[in-house]
Amino acid sequence: MRIGVLTSGGDCPGLNAVIRSVVHRAVVDHGDEVIGFRDGWKGLLECDYLKLDLDAVGGILARGGTILGSSRVQPSHLRDGVERAKGHVAELGLDAIIPIGGEGTLKAARLMSDSGLPVVGVPKTIDNDIAVTDVTFGFDTAVGVATEALDRLKTTAESHQRVLVVEVMGRHTGWIALHSGMAAGAHAIVVPERPFDIEELARRVGERFDAGKRFAIVVAAEGAKPRPGSMEFDEGGKDIYGHERFAGIARQLSIELEQRLGKEARPVILGHVQRGGTPTAYDRVLATRFGWHAVEAVHRGEFGHMTALRGTDIVMVPLAEAVETLKTVPADRYEEAECVL
Ligand code: F6P
Repeated sequence: MRIGVLTSGGDCPGLNAVIRSVVHRAVVDHGDEVIGFRDGWKGLLECDYLKLDLDAVGGILARGGTILGSSRVQPSHLRDGVERAKGHVAELGLDAIIPIGGEGTLKAARLMSDSGLPVVGVPKTIDNDIAVTDVTFGFDTAVGVATEALDRLKTTAESHQRVLVVEVMGRHTGWIALHSGMAAGAHAIVVPERPFDIEELARRVGERFDAGKRFAIVVAAEGAKPRPGSMEFDEGGKDIYGHERFAGIARQLSIELEQRLGKEARPVILGHVQRGGTPTAYDRVLATRFGWHAVEAVHRGEFGHMTALRGTDIVMVPLAEAVETLKTVPADRYEEAECVL
């Protein structure tokens, strides 16, 4: 068989582990040929690819990013995108495409699959917001990076008797905020799923200082928002692909808290450091298992599906289901965190 692989959307620790696993399983065990498209769907649309053999994937398991490159370009961005991609798949004699990506990529994968292409998806995102899989690889690494940063920030916050508002990624969900905040023992966590009241938040942080504590750490998911009318809020607008521009909540919250509490407050935006660097062992294993199962699905002809983790098993779920809803933080998970803040 001839299989094309691509990585699309924001990069994520573990992408290289999937690519490596696909090549090992397909080339070594099945005698397939694998090619990798450069920079996501863009490579397929422009027929820009490289051959992936064992040499090409040597030493990449622990490497962050993606050796194939990524972009946010999708076939639907071009008027003739889907037809162009189909033409290249036929020209290259591909029996299957394995796109590895998050919500946007999986939507594009579904579109390509509906247009008749043999597609098997692999979900990835540090945000952990794909509903049909228990976990996505990249999340564990991102939570680890954020937790380490929070641990470090505590000492500087304490030295200066400050409030530090630490903004973590997650787009429309608060999973990274919830887990890193719990792991590091933050004093307040705000998530998009539960719009916050600025007065209530200020009271909570203030009570900590009243009790004689010298600092406070607030973890803010980048997509968190105040309750309507609770404070003025700039949502940040969109980029050229219509993606939200976050990186505003920490700055705005720190100003509001400083004014209300009379304590120095500083914003810290962790940003892309959460996506960079080597994946944790957990993410490497999950990514490797996803790659293995994607190749098996290709050989069974189970197209229009993607890999997913259910409990400890890897299962295949229809792409149509995969992109229906986001996995958000349920109220009871937030309450569990709240009681230890
Ligand atoms: O979806 C992963 C993610 O890192 C989000 O957490 C974040 O909002 C977004 O991507 C950032 O995207 P970009 O790298 O395009 O700024």
